[in-house]
Amino acid sequence: MSNKIKIFKHGSPEYEAALELRTRVLRKPLGLEFTDEELKKDLDDTHFGLFAADKIIACLTLTHTPDKRMKMRQVAVDETMQGKGHGKILSLEAEKYAHENGFEVMFCHARKTAAPFYQKLGYNIVGDEFTEVNIPHYVMEKKLL
Ligand SMILES: CC(C)(COP(=O)(O)OP(=O)(O)OC[C@H]1O[C@@H](n2cnc3c(N)ncnc32)[C@H](O)[C@@H]1OP(=O)(O)O)[C@@H](O)C(=O)NCCC(=O)NCCS
Repeated sequence: MSNKIKIFKHGSPEYEAALELRTRVLRKPLGLEFTDEELKKDLDDTHFGLFAADKIIACLTLTHTPDKRMKMRQVAVDETMQGKGHGKILSLEAEKYAHENGFEVMFCHARKTAAPFYQKLGYNIVGDEFTEVNIPHYVMEKKLL
């Protein structure tokens, strides 16, 4: 069966599967859990997932900002499925969605370790390295055309 990209609502079964994936891939390896404050940010956001049958392979979240800049965050691919193009496919779909909804720029807080992934997608580093969730990050952005 071919993979399917879905947009889903906060609190849906797909959201719960994505949250489990995010916790496993983005928080547990750092010895962290999501705080209530962090999870509150999910409420009004747009959530994307890439599914094979009913299993979630990859997810990301878009935060709408008022200045035509969309923030892509919480990009996570199942550990056994990384490096197979899933992150790229889902990010490109999220960029398409943002562009179609009038956004001009996509930006993210990229982990330093993931910066080459975003660079390959056409994102540029803006500004200096900073620390978030105890690890080095860059702001990276891409003009949506
Ligand atoms: C980073 C991540 C989202 C990338 O998704 P992915 O599905 O593994 O990446 P893709 O297979 O779509 O890679 C697309 C391209 O980026 C490259 N790439 C992906 N991750 C990379 C990395 N960490 N370092 C260097 N290059 C990377 C791939 O080699 C590929 O290059 P190609 O187009 O020349 O073949 C995923 O590996 C992941 O979840 N990592 C752990 C969590 C994380 O760091 N999330 C990002 C937080 S900002």
